[in-house]
Amino acid sequence: MEKNKIYNVPASFVSNAFIDEKKYQALYKHSIDNSDEFWAEQAKEFITWFSPWKSVQSGSFDKLDMRWFLEGKLNACYNCVDRHLEKRKNQIAIIWQGDNPDESLTLTYAALHEKICRFANVLKNLGVKKGDRVCIYLPMIPEIAIAMLAVARIGAIHSVVFSAFSSDSLKARILDADCKLLITADHGVRGGKNNPLKDHADKALEKCPNVKHVIVVKRTGAPITWNKERDVWYHEALQNANMECPAEKLDSDDPLFILYTSGSTGSPKGILHTTGGYLVYAAITHKYVFNYSEGDIYWCTADIGWITGHSYLIYGPLLNGATTLMFEGVPQYPNFSRFWEIIDKYNVNIFYTAPTAIRALHKEGDQWVKQTSRKSLKLLGTVGEPINPDAWEWYHRVVGDDRCPIVDTWWQTETGGILISPLPYATPLKPGSVGWPFFGISPEVVDEQGQAVEDGKTGKLIIKKPWPGLMKTIYGDQERFKETYFKEVPGCYLTGDGADRDTDGYFWITGRNDDIIKVSGHRIGSGELEAVLNSHPAVAESAAIGIPDDIRGNIIYAFVTTKSGIQPTELLKKELIQKVRDEIGPHAIVGNIQWAKDLPKTRSGKIMRRLLRKIASDELTDLGDTSTLADPGVVGDLISERKKIK
Ligand code: WT7
Repeated sequence: MEKNKIYNVPASFVSNAFIDEKKYQALYKHSIDNSDEFWAEQAKEFITWFSPWKSVQSGSFDKLDMRWFLEGKLNACYNCVDRHLEKRKNQIAIIWQGDNPDESLTLTYAALHEKICRFANVLKNLGVKKGDRVCIYLPMIPEIAIAMLAVARIGAIHSVVFSAFSSDSLKARILDADCKLLITADHGVRGGKNNPLKDHADKALEKCPNVKHVIVVKRTGAPITWNKERDVWYHEALQNANMECPAEKLDSDDPLFILYTSGSTGSPKGILHTTGGYLVYAAITHKYVFNYSEGDIYWCTADIGWITGHSYLIYGPLLNGATTLMFEGVPQYPNFSRFWEIIDKYNVNIFYTAPTAIRALHKEGDQWVKQTSRKSLKLLGTVGEPINPDAWEWYHRVVGDDRCPIVDTWWQTETGGILISPLPYATPLKPGSVGWPFFGISPEVVDEQGQAVEDGKTGKLIIKKPWPGLMKTIYGDQERFKETYFKEVPGCYLTGDGADRDTDGYFWITGRNDDIIKVSGHRIGSGELEAVLNSHPAVAESAAIGIPDDIRGNIIYAFVTTKSGIQPTELLKKELIQKVRDEIGPHAIVGNIQWAKDLPKTRSGKIMRRLLRKIASDELTDLGDTSTLADPGVVGDLISERKKIK
C-alpha cells in the first residue's frame, strides 16, 4: 500500500475547526498523563448528571473491575432528549427518509420526547421494570429510536437485533439475554422489497416462553398473523398512554444495552455497555471526530442493528443536540444516485458510511454522483473495514469534490466508540490509514510475546489503558470476556486486529487476526458458520474462512467434508449456501464451497486456517510452515480440488 501520500488540511475549512494539530498533540498528552482530570472535564461538559460522581475511574485491566464516574446518577434518554427541550424543542431531532423517495417525516425534540414518554408508559404498563431486557427487532423507522430511548428512560436494557437476522438468530439472542418483551413491526421495507418481520418473530417466539408481550409497529399494513393474548399494536397502545413519565435515575455503572456480535468461536456474544462511561465517550467522539457544530445536518448510513447505529446515529448525535438522519433504504434503490440525492434533499453536512458502499457505488461510475450537487457536504467518514486507497481517493475527489476531509474511523462493538481516527483539520490525511489515537486511547502494536514492535512492523493491535466507552462484560459470561480480550496480552485489551504504525504515528489496520470474517463490513464468526454447515445431515466437518473480494472486502469460502458414503453434488452446495442464509441472515453470503476429503489439522486437532486462506486465494508460492500438520498429504488434495472449481 502506498503510504507516503498526504492530504493536508483544506484551507477553506480551517476556520470551522475546533482543534489544530498542535492543540491535538497537547490535549492528547494531557488526556494520557492526567486521565482522571481529562475525563472529569469531559463528563461535565457532555453529560447532565442528576447527582455528580464521586471518583472518575477505578479498577484495571488486571482485575477487570473497571468502573467510570462512580456513584454518578444519570439517565441516557434524559441526556439525549429532555435536557435539550429548553433550547431546541422545535429543532428537528430525527429526519426519517423512507425507502420510497416520496415517504419521509421529521420529529422535533419535543415530538420525540412526547412519543418516548408515552411509549415508556406502555412498557411500564406491560410490566417492564428497571434491569429487564427488552428485545428490539425493528427496521430503520423512527420507532426504533423511540423504543431504544423509552427502554433507557425506565432503566431497562435494550437488545437491538438487526432486522435482517433470521428467526433462528433472533431466537438465540432473545434466549441468551432472557428478554421479557419484544418490539417488532409487521414488515420491514428495503430496496422495494418487504421483509416479513412479524413472521420471523412469531417463529422465533415459539421457543421463547419468557416473552409475554410483543409490541407491533404497523409499517406496511400488510396482513400478519395475530396472537390476541400476546400481541399489542404500537399505535393503539401509544394513543392510550399517559405522557408523563419521569426519567429513572440510574447509576453510572447500570447497564444501558446489550448488542450481540460475532466472536471467532462459539455463539455470538452479548456485548454489555453501561450508562455513564458509554455516553460520555459516544458524545465526545461524535463531536470531535465529526467536527460536529451546532446546526449541522448529520447522516450516518449504518443500520441501528449494529454498534455504529447505536453510537453514531442515536446516542452520539442526540447527546450533542444534533439533527440526525435515518434512512430506511439502500444505496442502489431506486438508482445509484440515492445517497447523493438524499444529501441534496436535506443539505447534509456530515456523511458517515462504509467502504463496501463506497466501492459498490464507485463501480457504477462517476455520473451517478456528478448529477447531484453535494455542496452542503463538509466532512466524510468511513467505518467497518479497511478502505483501499483507490476507494478513498474516489470518495475524496468525486463525492467530496476534493474539499471534504475523510475520517477513517477504527473501532469495534466492544469499544463503544471510535478509538483511532484522524481529527478533521488537525490530522493531515493519508488514504488507507486510520490516523491517530483519540484522546485517552493508548494503542500499541505488539509481537507474539506481547512486546511493542518497531514502527513500520506489523503486529497485534492492543490498547494499554481503560477508557470510558469500553464494554463492561459479555452478558452472563465474565469468564469469556476475560479469555477473549485480556488473556493473550495480559493487562491489555486485545482487539483481534492486525496493524502497524508508521514513523509519523499513523495507524494502518491490516484486518482481523482471528477467525472473524468481515463481509461488507458485517461481522461473522467462522465458528457460527461452521455450526450451521455441520448441522446438515450430509456434512461431517467444515471450515469457513474469508477471502478478499473487491466490493465486499471479504467473502466467505467454506471447505466441507461430507459424511462417508455421501456424494458431494452441486445441489448439496446450493442447499448449504441457502441453509447459512436461512439460519444466520441474508448478509451471510457463502461465496464458494470446496469439497475436502479431509481438513488440514495440526497434531493437536486445530484446523490450520492460515493454510486454507492461502489455498482458497491461490497464493501457493509460500504456504508457510506445514510441519505441524498431522497429515501433510491433505494439502495436495486440497490444491487439486481448488483447481477443479476455479
Ligand atoms: C472490526 C469491528 C465499529 C463499527 C463497525 C464495526 C473492523 C472497523 C475499521 C476501519 C479497518 C475496521 C476491524 C474491527 N474495522 N473499522 N476504519 N478500518 N478496519 O464494528 O462489527 O464490531 O467490527 O471491524 O476489524 O475489529 P464491529
